[in-house]
Amino acid sequence: MYHSKIAGLGYYVPSNVVTNDDLSKIIDTNDEWIQERTGIQERRHIIRGEDTTTSMGVKAAEIAIERAGVTKEDIDFVVFATLSPDYYFPGPGVLVQRDLGLRTVGALDVRNQCSGFLYALSVADQYIKTGMYKNILVIGSEVHSTGLDMSTRGRSVSVIFGDGAGAAVLSREEDLSKGILSTHLHSEGQHAEELSLIAPGMGARWVTDIIADNDPNDESYFPYMNGQFVFKNAVVRFAEVINEGLEANDLQVSDIDMLIPHQANLRISQFIQKKFGLSDDQVFNNIQKYGNTTAASIPIALTEAWEKGKIKSGDTVVLAAFGSGFTWASAIIKW
Ligand code: ACO
Repeated sequence: MYHSKIAGLGYYVPSNVVTNDDLSKIIDTNDEWIQERTGIQERRHIIRGEDTTTSMGVKAAEIAIERAGVTKEDIDFVVFATLSPDYYFPGPGVLVQRDLGLRTVGALDVRNQCSGFLYALSVADQYIKTGMYKNILVIGSEVHSTGLDMSTRGRSVSVIFGDGAGAAVLSREEDLSKGILSTHLHSEGQHAEELSLIAPGMGARWVTDIIADNDPNDESYFPYMNGQFVFKNAVVRFAEVINEGLEANDLQVSDIDMLIPHQANLRISQFIQKKFGLSDDQVFNNIQKYGNTTAASIPIALTEAWEKGKIKSGDTVVLAAFGSGFTWASAIIKW
């Protein structure tokens, strides 16, 4: 029996910065509305032909591998979380195996949207705990910008999401008081359609119909979010799953050195911070700069927090997410 630890972290975001004012030139919105409701000031959108979900994941992974002090030959397995794969199939895991030249290691794709990175982390943690693998590459990467509804119909969703990638190398930790102490995963599929993208799922995508009546403006081609319903569920589930993680490890709220919530919306993070009575130093947010990057948001934020020296050896770090599915999850880490 082993533990796993985060041995290296990296992130990559496209160079193309899109401010709220930039968006207001192509969609009926404004900086004040976006900042007041979401805290977002700007996000990144890929430049056509320059980046994809896979290529950004690869760039983040290269940094994480180097920082972990391992080589590509040491990576035993890949877990890739995304809701925006380059291809409908195959998933991006095998593309990372190819593009990084990772022998013929196994590659798994995780489809759990905003909770995807924590689901991926949990899977990787189990493989390391059992001793099956020693070093696993865990990636969260998303391209949203190519699929957003830039008409007034989609504006409450389209202003929120951004592109980017984060990666972690999870490695064997023999000291059982350190590393990932526990992960906690939940879902409630009865709310699946409240935050969803229906096409090109095979339930909606009858090729014969598409050929006969292809309407690229059909709303099923764009993400849908029942924003207020998502907000109400998110604040409850975030709190529950953080408490579940603390209780499982006999920890108190006062033991939290750093909480990194999925960067859904600054108002959700602030609500959670207030509910737990945490100080600004105990919660890390960067949604202001990157928007909501779903599966990439936690590894991007975790990497930035670590780079800024906000996470030190011995710290108790709590990761928590809520999103489409609905799914929600947490991870408790002794750094
Ligand atoms: N710019 C300007 N006006 C807008 C915009 C926009 N981008 N979007 C909507 N509006 C208008 C609407 O047309 C409406 O106008 P009306 O009152 O004249 O009809 C008004 O603003 C309110 O619209 P709502 O859709 O009710 O907006 P709401 O106040 O609910 O805010 C938001 C939307 C920000 C999404 C909010 O519901 C929210 O915070 N939800 C939480 C969910 C969330 O953040 N999800 C993140 C992604 S999911 C995840 O990661 C878990």
